[in-house]
Amino acid sequence: MMTILIDQPEFGVEAGFNKQVDNVEKELVLDGGFMVPQTNSFGHTFRDYHVESERQKGVENFYKTNHINQTYDFVKRMREEYGKLNKVEMSIWECCELLNDVVDESDPDLDEPQIEHLLQTAEAIRRDYPDEDWLHLTGLIHDLGKVLLLPSFGELPQWAVVGDTYPVGCAFDKSIVHHKVAKENNTTLPSAALFVIRYHSFYALHRLGAYKHLMNEEDVENLKWLEIFNKYDLYSKSKVRIDVEKVKPYYISLIEKYFPAKLRW
Ligand SMILES: [Fe+2]
Repeated sequence: MMTILIDQPEFGVEAGFNKQVDNVEKELVLDGGFMVPQTNSFGHTFRDYHVESERQKGVENFYKTNHINQTYDFVKRMREEYGKLNKVEMSIWECCELLNDVVDESDPDLDEPQIEHLLQTAEAIRRDYPDEDWLHLTGLIHDLGKVLLLPSFGELPQWAVVGDTYPVGCAFDKSIVHHKVAKENNTTLPSAALFVIRYHSFYALHRLGAYKHLMNEEDVENLKWLEIFNKYDLYSKSKVRIDVEKVKPYYISLIEKYFPAKLRW
C-alpha cells in the first residue's frame, strides 16, 4: 500500500477498479517469451476480487478499513516515524527471509511464503532479461516493505502497509519506506529500480494511465520498466516452485553489488 503526496488532492481513482483491470489484463501483450499462467495458486484468474474464494471476504474487508484509515495525518506521521531509519539493522537477504512470516491479506492470488514470490518474480525476469541484473534484484526486493507488519518494525496493521497504491493528496506506504531505505543506505541501483519499487502497486497509473500529468520526463522513462516489471510481479504468483538454496548465491552476489552489507531500516 502506498499513497502519493501531491499538491492538489485527486479524487475518484482508488484501489478497487477490478473490472477495468481484468479487461486491461486480457489485452496484455507479452514479450520475451514469458508464458502467462491462466490461474493463481487457488485456481482462480488473477486479481479477480469477485470470485467466491476463501480470501475474498478478507480482501473486501481489507480495502474498506484501508480507505477509512489511510488519512493524510496518518501518512504524515508514518513518513516522519519511518524516515528515521532507526528500527533495525540487517542485510537485504535477512530481510527477505523475515518476510516469510508475513501474510498479505490484500492479495487474492498469493498463498505461499513471500520469499517464493520474490524469487519467482526475480527468476522470471532473469530468464527473459538476462543482462538487466538490477531488475532481477528489484524483483527480489520489491515487496520488502511488508516487513512493517512484523513486531520488530512496529507491527503496523495490514491496511497501513499492503494493497494497491493510490494518491489522495497524502502519502504513506511500505514502498515509500523502502524506497527511502534503499536510497538512504546508498544503494547503487538505478533510478528505474527505485521507481519500480515505489510504484509497482500503483495500478491506477501503470494499468489505467491515470495521473500521468503528475509525471516528469524521468518518470516517463522509468514507467517503461515498471510496465515490464509488473507482469512478472503479477503472473509469477503461480505454482512455480523455486529452489531457494540453489538461486541464493546469485542473489547474494547482486545484493553485494548494489547494497552495503547491513542497512538501517
Ligand atoms: Fe509483488
